[in-house]
Amino acid sequence: MRVKALEHIGIAVKSLKEAVEIYQALGLSLSSTEEVPSERVRVATFPVEGTRIELLEPTSEDSAIAKFLQKRGEGIHHLAFEVEDIERFCEELQAAGLRLVYEAPRAGEGGSRVNFIHPSSVRGVLIEIREGR
Ligand code: CO
Repeated sequence: MRVKALEHIGIAVKSLKEAVEIYQALGLSLSSTEEVPSERVRVATFPVEGTRIELLEPTSEDSAIAKFLQKRGEGIHHLAFEVEDIERFCEELQAAGLRLVYEAPRAGEGGSRVNFIHPSSVRGVLIEIREGR
């Protein structure tokens, strides 16, 4: 079991439009904007050498991102690690005593399949586990 890459860093924002302008001002290029209904978010992606920045705006009040913004405000929300076999990886995490957010992987952006390790198992950091780029 091994992580292949830090696939992206997810950042919670109130307004995608305003946040996109900030990252463009940093000289990064927006590669795509996509709505992910399963997570009730809209996602803007900026490739950066070897990884990506993902800006996340909630599309509904009951979105996990909306709750995060209410509780902690804007900022880094999660790290996403790419793995080869998500089912097996998740089984091994559970065997190691780590708590997963979902019973089974769900559809993420870009055709990926994702699950999350609960922050209570990772010293306050939410970690996305994903198969597929
Ligand atoms: Co993510």
